[in-house]
Amino acid sequence: MLVDPGFGRFFSDHMASATWTPEQDWHDCRITALEPYSLHPAASVLHYGQEIFEGMKAFRHADGSIWLFRPELNARRFSHSAQRLALPALSEELFLESVVELVRADQDWVPPFDGERSLYLRPYMFGSEVFIGVRPAARVSYGVIASPAGAYFSSGAGGITLWVSENYTRAAKGGTGAAKCGGNYAASLAPQVEANNNGCEQVLYLSDGEDRYLEESGTMNLFLVTDDGELITPSLGTILEGVTRASVLELAAEHDLKPVERRFRLEDLRAGCADGSITEMFAAGTAAVITPIVGFKGAGYEHTVGDGQPGSVTLAIRKHILDVQFGRVPDPGNWLHRVV
Ligand SMILES: Cc1ncc(COP(=O)(O)O)c(C=O)c1O
Repeated sequence: MLVDPGFGRFFSDHMASATWTPEQDWHDCRITALEPYSLHPAASVLHYGQEIFEGMKAFRHADGSIWLFRPELNARRFSHSAQRLALPALSEELFLESVVELVRADQDWVPPFDGERSLYLRPYMFGSEVFIGVRPAARVSYGVIASPAGAYFSSGAGGITLWVSENYTRAAKGGTGAAKCGGNYAASLAPQVEANNNGCEQVLYLSDGEDRYLEESGTMNLFLVTDDGELITPSLGTILEGVTRASVLELAAEHDLKPVERRFRLEDLRAGCADGSITEMFAAGTAAVITPIVGFKGAGYEHTVGDGQPGSVTLAIRKHILDVQFGRVPDPGNWLHRVV
């Protein structure tokens, strides 16, 4: 299981959990053996989807120690997601403590140091009150589970192709795009099937409205590298504020790139790939770290990015992030949080 874990297939021995009610606030915080839930058929999450989650990783370093990568950013995003879904606030301290205690309990599940494998951590929260009716649940369950992880995409750092979805958008102003809630991912499955049917690994989402700005990919933020040294990523708003995105932006200067957060139109992406002014494109997210995007297509058109191979800047940034995560280079931003 630890030799070739794949992604999300095996689960560790324990879980963290806690329960919230208006009367008792958060209580019953514990680490127990991993066990299935017994849910009443009227549990509110089953009907109204009041659910949020996070994704983060624990990394084993060469000396055997175990570290989290910027967990406070996941804690903060979890709070924002909770607020959007009218779920109760869980303090960032409790979030962090639950993750740390689970990793300590299941430290043997963190794969050996090899610069690629890690223990994926999945905190989540859902309405578990038994009732039928549309209002915030008055009983909420929180948990964290862990799963050893290898490469997320079978094609790995070899590069993926995106499908530009014209039929679906992921988010709209005032919607839930910036929250990490299960419903967003349920809504992404039909476009994902469409992408796969068109020979692409992932979807490239555009904003709704006339101008069609780039948003993000299925579970990753997008980046473009230009021939005049800019590293461009779509600005925040309706997209998820990725931890990897923030880290890539902060590392840009070390790669002689100017980080730019701005809106970017599909038409400009197509023109830039056609005339060579966009030299590289990649996606950034916890699960796959940095994934080169070597091409994209939509209804009636197809583009290659650069020479159709993973770009050198993309691979250098990928290596840089992995080197920090696995403790192979100094950590000047204090991004790592020691657990064991
Ligand atoms: C929709 C979406 N965008 C972007 C990301 C990347 O975020 P992070 O780098 O924090 O994993 C994710 C993954 O969590 C995601 O689900």
